[in-house]
Amino acid sequence: MNNIRQINTLILGAGAAGLFAAIHAGGDALVIDHARNPGEKIRISGGGRCNFTNLRTAPECFLGANPHFHKSALARYTAWDFLDLVQKHGIAWHEKTLGQLFCDGKATQIVAMLLTEMREAGAELSLETSLVELSREESGFRAVIERAGQRESIRAARVVVATGGKSIPKMGATGLAYRIAEQFGLPLAETRPGLVPLTFPDRFAGLSGVALPVRAQADGPAFDEALLFTHRGLSGPAILQASSYWREGGEIRLDLAPSGTLAESLRAARRSDGKKALKTVLAQHLPARLVEAWVTEHPMQGNMADQSDRAIDALCEGLRNWRLTPTGTEGYRTAEVTLGGVSTDALSSKTMEAKSVPGLHFIGECVDVTGWLGGYNFQWAWASGFAAGTAI
Ligand code: FDA
Repeated sequence: MNNIRQINTLILGAGAAGLFAAIHAGGDALVIDHARNPGEKIRISGGGRCNFTNLRTAPECFLGANPHFHKSALARYTAWDFLDLVQKHGIAWHEKTLGQLFCDGKATQIVAMLLTEMREAGAELSLETSLVELSREESGFRAVIERAGQRESIRAARVVVATGGKSIPKMGATGLAYRIAEQFGLPLAETRPGLVPLTFPDRFAGLSGVALPVRAQADGPAFDEALLFTHRGLSGPAILQASSYWREGGEIRLDLAPSGTLAESLRAARRSDGKKALKTVLAQHLPARLVEAWVTEHPMQGNMADQSDRAIDALCEGLRNWRLTPTGTEGYRTAEVTLGGVSTDALSSKTMEAKSVPGLHFIGECVDVTGWLGGYNFQWAWASGFAAGTAI
């Protein structure tokens, strides 16, 4: 601990945001991470193919106390900018759906690309390294870091905190960013799991594995995507999206026939298939196991020919406006992101620097900016990393 090493920038966390900030920090940056490998969440993201950005990125696709904060960074580093980088590295990609861009090959190509860029920029990476202490000095910061039982003292003009949120602790998530914010007197927006399955103990166990397109809505926008019943409750992209807007005790509204043509189809079937059982006809529009469960809960009499307009409308209303109250979420164990975090009131939207602590930047998931499912969270990591990196 005798030698004090001097560097310009110490970056905490070698995830998406930290690596991206290192690329743009202009050299003399040290990135530390307690994990054995950098970019672990990138590696597992998008089912191993990394949904690395979204061409439809717009400010409305993000949650946070201040709906304007993220606009500047997202405008200065766009999905197209990241796509240019991906193409420069010859990584093949495709648009899956709704503007979501994925690698054709493996997510590890994105990690390799970031590491190549980082090395070319002259930044250094130290893995299996933790932060023991961080304090402010007259000019800059003093950090004590530890690697393989050895401690080292560092003086850094700037510190960039990019240690992510609380999601998936078994992958190395810690609350370090929040503790640093608290240490320096910065406010925090309450954190909670986002993009997370909703739990309904025992209720849907019999439907586990059933999937269908729905419109799902909690206390926010409606999402037209797939729903998946699981033995714990509800999952699938539509539910994950709505979950970020759901609060304890609140309802979730599901439209199981979002195309809006079900009533018309049932009326037509009344004319053409009058002798068929209602549930047989319904099973042409919805998964059979779901129909079976629905008619058990909502008994319906007679064949198609026996159904009045009112009965058909009531059935469709039930299916299109199904209101459910989840008991909770699966929590940080499976949440893709952490909502809330370092309050944007305390940060500059241009540089991600704490207004009251010059030289201390917060980027990525630890900040109170959270994207929808579909590549938006990585786009925020790139854009906020770029904002901090280029400000250094
Ligand atoms: P990130 O969590 O990536 O990195 C933080 C780093 O800090 C980690 O390397 C960690 O080890 C390190 N760290 C933490 N605490 C530390 C400490 N105390 N000391 C030292 N180091 C520490 N998003 C998206 O846009 N498209 C997608 O396809 C997916 N898919 C996806 C799948 C799954 C399963 C999850 C869990 C998440 C996603 N996401 C996603 C979300 C995306 O992974 C997430 O938003 C970004 O990784 C956030 O980037 P950060 O760099 O901010 O944090």
